[in-house]
Amino acid sequence: MSLNNDIQSVLYSEEQLRQRVCEMGAQITKDYQGKDKILLVSVLKGSYIFMADLSRAIDLPVTIDFMVVSSYGSGSKSSGQVEIKKDISLNLEGYDVIIVEDILDSGNTLYYLMNILKLRGAASIRICTLMDKPERRAKPITADYAGFQIPDAFVVGYGLDFDQRYRNLPYVGILKPEVYEGR
Ligand code: IMP
Ligand code: MG
Repeated sequence: MSLNNDIQSVLYSEEQLRQRVCEMGAQITKDYQGKDKILLVSVLKGSYIFMADLSRAIDLPVTIDFMVVSSYGSGSKSSGQVEIKKDISLNLEGYDVIIVEDILDSGNTLYYLMNILKLRGAASIRICTLMDKPERRAKPITADYAGFQIPDAFVVGYGLDFDQRYRNLPYVGILKPEVYEGR
């Protein structure tokens, strides 16, 4: 039984992801020239693969940290409730912070996160998301860097899950509706 059987179609292949992530890294490298306190904060778990690839595409001295927040239960719908389960260990004062996200969807997660982080004395805070679903936005949040604008479909792979599975698919695919409708 292959994971691929649950995928309706491939949205972004490994090659397309590699190429776009390299472009994003190059853009960030250009925009942050001369900065020496750059902090990449990955919002786990969905962005773990993107963080690994993006950070290696940035040719600047960066510090890496992780947060765990939850806005979804185990299903495919946002609850609107956001909870910090693991916080950044670093003092943000003076840092140029880049929040690394997998998908910007309703915006609930990042709206909440931005409001908290803004109070902590960072020099700047920007959002870098691999994918953006602008149609679904419920909060006034925009990404400073967005890899792909995607339609309103539920996608998995390259770190993104459904019910904690499919994160290890090397591409981004659209899940067959029968997979989540049955749950
Ligand atoms: P938001 O708070 O609605 O913007 O949700 C953001 C989070 O929901 C993302 O960081 C993902 O972890 C998750 N999410 C949103 N859309 C998808 C999807 O299509 N597939 C998998 N996870 C998703
Ligand atoms: Mg996420």
